Amino acid sequence: MSMTFFKIVVLIFLLISLFGVFFTKKLLEFFCYLNFSYYKFCGIDVEFKIVSTKIAKLSCLAGTVFLIFMFFNIDKNFNNKNTNDLNKNEITVTETINMENIDMKTVYAFLKKCQTYYLATVENNQPRVRPFGTIDLFEDKLYIQTGKVKNVSKQMAQNPKIEICAFDGNTWIRIEAVAVNDDRIEAKQHMLDNYPGLQKMYKADDNNTQVLYLKDATATFYSFTQEKPKVVKF
Ligand SMILES: Cc1cc2nc3c(=O)[nH]c(=O)nc-3n(C[C@H](O)[C@H](O)[C@H](O)COP(=O)(O)O)c2cc1C
Repeated sequence: MSMTFFKIVVLIFLLISLFGVFFTKKLLEFFCYLNFSYYKFCGIDVEFKIVSTKIAKLSCLAGTVFLIFMFFNIDKNFNNKNTNDLNKNEITVTETINMENIDMKTVYAFLKKCQTYYLATVENNQPRVRPFGTIDLFEDKLYIQTGKVKNVSKQMAQNPKIEICAFDGNTWIRIEAVAVNDDRIEAKQHMLDNYPGLQKMYKADDNNTQVLYLKDATATFYSFTQEKPKVVKF
């Protein structure tokens, strides 16, 4: 639901409840009339009688206060929702990335921004590719995370040459590198600290969690708007 549509709906309800505060009887009559028409339509003969308007007045007042509060918090709620969506994988989106002096940190920021990248490995003579999301900057190295039980891990153990590809809508990156396993608890913990969502599935000392850093990496940025690709080695 778009924010404008939601605002209009809240505003309509707000006007109805505000109307109810001042013209409680009229509003009740209106709803009675609606009910009455419905019962008539169903062939049931009923008679409505308004006994007390006090409770209705109070509910309209409470509704009005609540809807006013909601109306002025819609923007905030929508922004929070979007941030939560983006943070599903504990990812911070860097909107503007300085592409002038690119280095490893630019690569890190770009992959974070994309949220999902595609990691290619080799299995015997066959390329294998899958979506990945984890990326961590630790001790001046770029780390990815996986589980040792996965095929991707076994493939990297057999042949550590990997390629990563990601696209942000305008610019895309291709990184070729060698993935080096780092079995240190602190490297794994750093990754898990940056991805709290992973902590449900992985623990730094569970013998499955694996982090690997990129060695001998060449990252190339390509763009629809830039003629020459930009290359960074790290
Ligand atoms: C958006 C997205 C991000 C993912 N990120 C990771 C990740 O960072 N590490 C990981 O091991 N699996 C990740 N996965 C799951 C892997 O893609 C999945 O386990 C895949 O099957 C692993 O490859 P394999 O089957 O060749 O072992 C992610 C999946 C999706 C859809």
